[in-house]
Amino acid sequence: PMQDAARPEPTPDFAFRVDATDGAARTGAITMPRGAIRTPAFMPVGTAATVKAMYPEQVRDLGADVVLGNTYHLMLRPGPERMARLGGLHRFMRWDGPILTDSGGFQVMSLSALRKLDEEGVTFRSHIDGTAHHMSPERSIEIQGLLGSDIQMQLDECVRLPAEPEAIERAMRLSLRWAERCRAAFGEQPGKAMFGIVQGGDVPALRIESARALVDLDLKGYAIGGLAVGEPQAVMLAMIEAVEPHLPRAKPRYLMGVGTPDDLMRSVERGIDMFDCVMPTRAGRHGLAYTRHGRVNLRNARHAEDSRPLDETSACPAARDYSRAYLHHLVRSDEILGMMLLTWNNLAYYQELMAGLRAAIRTGRLADFAAETREAWARAEA
Ligand code: GUN
Repeated sequence: PMQDAARPEPTPDFAFRVDATDGAARTGAITMPRGAIRTPAFMPVGTAATVKAMYPEQVRDLGADVVLGNTYHLMLRPGPERMARLGGLHRFMRWDGPILTDSGGFQVMSLSALRKLDEEGVTFRSHIDGTAHHMSPERSIEIQGLLGSDIQMQLDECVRLPAEPEAIERAMRLSLRWAERCRAAFGEQPGKAMFGIVQGGDVPALRIESARALVDLDLKGYAIGGLAVGEPQAVMLAMIEAVEPHLPRAKPRYLMGVGTPDDLMRSVERGIDMFDCVMPTRAGRHGLAYTRHGRVNLRNARHAEDSRPLDETSACPAARDYSRAYLHHLVRSDEILGMMLLTWNNLAYYQELMAGLRAAIRTGRLADFAAETREAWARAEA
């Protein structure tokens, strides 16, 4: 594999720099007091103060520079004030690198019961114990501050697709008003950042209006939300292409909740710098492995006597040292180690892919790298 750039040194302020471009794609780094994030970056999801089935040291060793935490889960358990008394999320989970937190709105809408959304914020019942909670844009930022988050996200409303244009427009405008309130609540915090979230569903004109209004707020970074929520990949890519020309080149762009390795590569080709997704970790707990040769379902009986590893060329022991037959056995037996090994393999593959993309952009050979990578996925062995 190609050589990845060294992690840059931390900086006292939040900063972003682009070191090289190849078409619309960019490679560079976000730097901040807790460390640097090499971009394009994949952020493993650590919803409940843990990247499920992984030790924090392992996540770091795979090359992850940042992990994601969820305001919704952590406000319900263990609670933001308790987390602050315990010294914050970094100390709590033993991750001393940057942490990005999602704002909570998206998880409220997908996980909680009896949720009600109005101008003031969102009222909902906990999916854990049914207790009633309210979250305003200001409270979301306060909670993210109590957690100690380095990159905080505005509270937004994400509409699942397909949806009526009227509903998409209403949610986009509400999200813009909430962006202003979050920006005011966040204030000036030199080593930290708050990102806005572009909404607008599958309507290019609404996407562009959302992006322009957020850019006027002069935020530290811009996310694209409301994608991978039921639309075809072509629609998602078209929305990225519609928004990209309106986002400042000097600020990071984060595609939320995406995606498959193919989604990541196509989005990087269109100018995205950051991603998060439960896919590698969740799939790993369900017997699915992502590899250089595509996705492998270890549940399948065809692996029962296959003594080959997932990828003998990988630097990750989970990919290199354990037979498919053994992984098949662990998955079929619902053994914890099966989940651990496949999660490890999957995060290793995602980080290897991002390192490959960074190196390819830096050397001006992204198109070749993408073609070779796609060819290897298509050449799924046996
Ligand atoms: N995660 C995936 N999509 C979204 C989104 O649209 N908004 C937020 N806040 N989080 C997300």
